[in-house]
Amino acid sequence: MIVAIDGPAAAGKGTLARRIAKELNFAYLDTGLLYRATGMKVLHLGGDPEDAVIAEQAARSIDPETFNDPALRTDAAASAASKVSAIPAVRSALLDFQKSFAATPGGSYQGAVLDGRDIGTVVCPNAPAKLFITASMEVRAERRFKELQERGVESIYARVLQDMKERDERDSSRSAAPLTAADDALVLDTSDMTADDVFAKALSYIAEKRD
Ligand code: C5P
Repeated sequence: MIVAIDGPAAAGKGTLARRIAKELNFAYLDTGLLYRATGMKVLHLGGDPEDAVIAEQAARSIDPETFNDPALRTDAAASAASKVSAIPAVRSALLDFQKSFAATPGGSYQGAVLDGRDIGTVVCPNAPAKLFITASMEVRAERRFKELQERGVESIYARVLQDMKERDERDSSRSAAPLTAADDALVLDTSDMTADDVFAKALSYIAEKRD
């Protein structure tokens, strides 16, 4: 069983995916990390994240062992990720890893949950359960701003909002696998929902699809 979760930045995909994985004993892959690791690798090499040649090389040499690096959680990594992710050669270099994770999650797992931007449309188009998690731009910027404050990262709300707008715009307008809900996805606007509400809705939807 594969659960595909897509949506824009800070909509609550990661929190939801982690809770679902724990509840159902599924393996979890945050696919944003692959793009973040690629973007950071380019920056470390002193390259430009929009340079297709260096970005593809970086995508082919990322190491899953480094996915816990806190540097991947920064806005600099997010911004570099959104640039490298618009390059088709980068997307195809990262596709096999994601597909094989979904097909063979390993261990005693009963299935896999993947979250990202194109899981239901490109990576796992045959996933039986697809969720598209969204929320208004202001709510998402507010959530991200609070999260940064809690982590003690100094930030300005207007800047967070601006960064999010730019990233959404890039992710939605690119020609390679743009951010969009699959036709058969359950779309949840979480602007006025609690994390518990979202979790309960998602679980009952997955249970329906599992039968
Ligand atoms: O989900 P996260 O915010 O970590 O993703 C960082 C960036 O990576 C996104 O803004 C997007 O550009 C890219 N991404 C993608 N496809 C995915 C996951 C992430 O293009 N499946």
